[in-house]
Amino acid sequence: MPEQRLLLLGFGNVGQWLARLLLRHGAALAREHGIAFRITGIATGRHGVVCNPAGIDAGAALQLAAAGAQLGALPGVQSLADPAALLAAGAGDVLFENSPQNAHSGQPALDYIRTALQNGMHVITANKGPLVHGYAALKALAAAHKRRFLFESTVMDGTPIFSMARECLPLSRVTALRGVLNSTTNVILSQMEQGATFAAGVQYAQQLGVAEADPSADVDGWDAAVKVAAIATVLMDQPITPAQMTVQGIRAVTPQQAQAARAAGTPLKLLCTAAMVDGRVQAAVQPTPISFADPLAHLTGTSSGVTLTFDTMKEIYVAGMNHGPEQTAFGLLADFVNALR
Ligand SMILES: NC(=O)c1ccc[n+]([C@@H]2O[C@H](COP(=O)([O-])OP(=O)(O)OC[C@H]3O[C@@H](n4cnc5c(N)ncnc54)[C@H](OP(=O)(O)O)[C@@H]3O)[C@@H](O)[C@H]2O)c1
Repeated sequence: MPEQRLLLLGFGNVGQWLARLLLRHGAALAREHGIAFRITGIATGRHGVVCNPAGIDAGAALQLAAAGAQLGALPGVQSLADPAALLAAGAGDVLFENSPQNAHSGQPALDYIRTALQNGMHVITANKGPLVHGYAALKALAAAHKRRFLFESTVMDGTPIFSMARECLPLSRVTALRGVLNSTTNVILSQMEQGATFAAGVQYAQQLGVAEADPSADVDGWDAAVKVAAIATVLMDQPITPAQMTVQGIRAVTPQQAQAARAAGTPLKLLCTAAMVDGRVQAAVQPTPISFADPLAHLTGTSSGVTLTFDTMKEIYVAGMNHGPEQTAFGLLADFVNALR
């Protein structure tokens, strides 16, 4: 197999973890899967876009990123105007798209992915925006160009749900899901069960690095809703957007309610549901008391889990315990191996 030329679009938490994993597993990729690679381009928002067809030193790029420096300081690289110029340079076989999510339109990542597929690249992403806003078209484009569009890390931080369904359960269709899919609200609710106020819970989640400076998308339920949309679109074959769901966040939950729910053996979780009703998908995200008889009630911290109901296999429960950006990046690496199979 020829050496794969990799473009890393987005070099933040996830992109940098991917670079570390490529360094760590490079020898095993060659030995166990016959995959050789070099990183030929890295694109960021404010820290430069660089290209070197001969290969970029990933260790040096990580050091510069840790120092907050411009990637243009890397030896031998050419600086380019923007990510579009990198995609046009023809220096890549695989695009890893890990720029920030735009929940409203999927842009500009949607255009980056479209261009890469049109240019004959495989595309692997952790970005939910393009998946929710462009799945059917991107899947068709990938098929037309005999390339793969893979996205295991978009939901549940790399825990395999899309590849499990695709590889292990042929002829199966998901008919319903119940999940706890947002870490920030899980951490905040756990804190409130111990008496913390909502604001203190948010602050704690921010200190852990789980919540963003503006936690609205998480606490108001929209991050979870985008994840439900991703699962429904791909596994239920039912394209749906968050705007078409019932979405209620956790702002109105009081510490007293959280404590009482746990004491009653039914802790509050931001529950995600979707099911087929009269031939259409109905989906919701709402704070809900869950009995300890349900495995979802036991998820704490940054763990996430989902029970998928299949028309063939009844219910399958999948959970990822205390995952973070390293596991998200591992999902990208697994997609890379699967794309080249
Ligand atoms: N963190 C996780 O565990 C996790 C889990 C699942 C999915 N995801 C998804 O993975 C993606 C990356 O997350 P992250 O945590 O790595 O984010 P992050 O740390 O904020 O990094 C984002 C990267 O994208 C770059 N960027 C910003 N705007 C850009 C643009 N218009 N074009 C190209 N690059 C741009 C940033 O560059 P500058 O720093 O120079 O601005 C930075 O390198 C997101 O879509 C996120 O939703 C993340």
